[in-house]
Amino acid sequence: MQFKFSNASRHPYEIILVDDKNLKPLNKHISKKEFDYVSKSKSNDHSIISLNRLDSLKIVVVVKQKKSVSATDEAIRKMGASVQALLQSHKAKQAFITSTCQSDKASYLFAEGLSLANYQFLKYKSDAKKLRHTLTTLLFSKASITANALQQLSVLYKAISIARDLVNEPLQTLTATELSEAFKTMGKEAGFKVTVLDKAQITQEKMGGILAVNRGSILPPTFSILEYKPKQAQNTKPVVLVGKGIVYDTGGLSLKPTPASMDRMKSDMSGSAVVSATLYAAALLQLPLHIIALVPATENRPGENAYVPGDVITMYSGKTVEVLNTDAEGRLVLADALHWAKRYEPALVLDFATLTGAAAAAIGDVGIVCMGNAEESTKQALKTSGDNQYERLVEFPMWDEYGDMIKSDIADLKNIGGPYGGAITAGKFLEHFVDYPWMHFDIAGVSLNMSKKGYHPIGGTAFGVRMMMDFLMHYTIQK
Ligand code: BES
Ligand code: MN
Ligand code: ZN
Repeated sequence: MQFKFSNASRHPYEIILVDDKNLKPLNKHISKKEFDYVSKSKSNDHSIISLNRLDSLKIVVVVKQKKSVSATDEAIRKMGASVQALLQSHKAKQAFITSTCQSDKASYLFAEGLSLANYQFLKYKSDAKKLRHTLTTLLFSKASITANALQQLSVLYKAISIARDLVNEPLQTLTATELSEAFKTMGKEAGFKVTVLDKAQITQEKMGGILAVNRGSILPPTFSILEYKPKQAQNTKPVVLVGKGIVYDTGGLSLKPTPASMDRMKSDMSGSAVVSATLYAAALLQLPLHIIALVPATENRPGENAYVPGDVITMYSGKTVEVLNTDAEGRLVLADALHWAKRYEPALVLDFATLTGAAAAAIGDVGIVCMGNAEESTKQALKTSGDNQYERLVEFPMWDEYGDMIKSDIADLKNIGGPYGGAITAGKFLEHFVDYPWMHFDIAGVSLNMSKKGYHPIGGTAFGVRMMMDFLMHYTIQK
């Protein structure tokens, strides 16, 4: 998808955004008769109104104020998704967006929803040509958006598309090695450094969590270090992102029942898609921030040398863990990456992981469960970014009692808690491996859609990238 300015006088598909409370500015764009028609449709509660002029289609989009700015913004994105479907039904190739709204964000939000809804994953369709959405370009009037916003829109669209592609790619074509290769490609294009530790190096480092999970797989693990360090970086201590990179989760010997719970498990590397796409967007937008992303990657398989329930493993940090369920593998690989992060003396570490079914069970596919020890002001900033982007966060408590649930009789920790509070006991496990300000984001509920939802098609959503980018763009250094 391309995003450009246009000053042509005529466009076959023209979208005009207008405030519900003030239709007047529309007068400049449509005839008196059309205006009356729009007013009438609006009073019948229509908010997307088509005016077919035979040689062109004008689409009036009425922006209504909802109970919060966040809700209004999301409604605009969703109208963008509806208009995407409308444009597709007309086989439109280009559409022109102009805005008469008071808010200068309306065009951005609308185009964001429209473009994200236009995304497709057609790599494995033999009739891809026929299926491909016709729309390739969004055009904007000069007055409706700034050049900076246009660039941001374009970069975020690209980053999110890459993240979605990574999630949608099956294991067969996205092993741990291939995931690390994908990061290298992204790094070359956007301008960040990618270093990949191979199995020998991971073994030499004694990253026991990653190695244990990898034992049941015939393919080697990787540990990727993505670093964006611009000369003009404002922070002396980096922000470190950590993403779970389980390229497939069978559960290991604690095998997941198939099909219901295993068929989505190619998406168990969604955390890594979120953090790599964030770095990609940050680098392309040249944010003045030193940011590092770490991705421990492997499959979780029940191969003949697989780790077994009852094994006691020594983690990279030196702590011992009694593995009582090989399906609680995410925390094992993340713990090693969190321990690695200590070397940077980070200002803040944020990890993203499809970590627990419990997080999804608690809040469904509506938002992200988060928890951690970061300062209140940091938590607030993250939640604000979540609201801004409608990738909302709900914070769970990290009370001591949850920590008691992962005490082992024979090792320092065990890798599962009891039957309840599973999202939190997973977070408490990770807490043992951090010594810096940190937040954990459990994206198990939101990373993959089984059906289309607004501007998210079926498949990978890249949920979290917009929230993270919003946060980083507002991030200021705490000395
Ligand atoms: N990858 C799964 C979590 C998951 C579940 C992600 C559903 C997306 C959708 C994770 O590795 C896992 O298996 N977690 C277990 C932990 C349990 C064994 C303590 C779970 O949630 O059941
Ligand atoms: Mn698992
Ligand atoms: Zn998993």
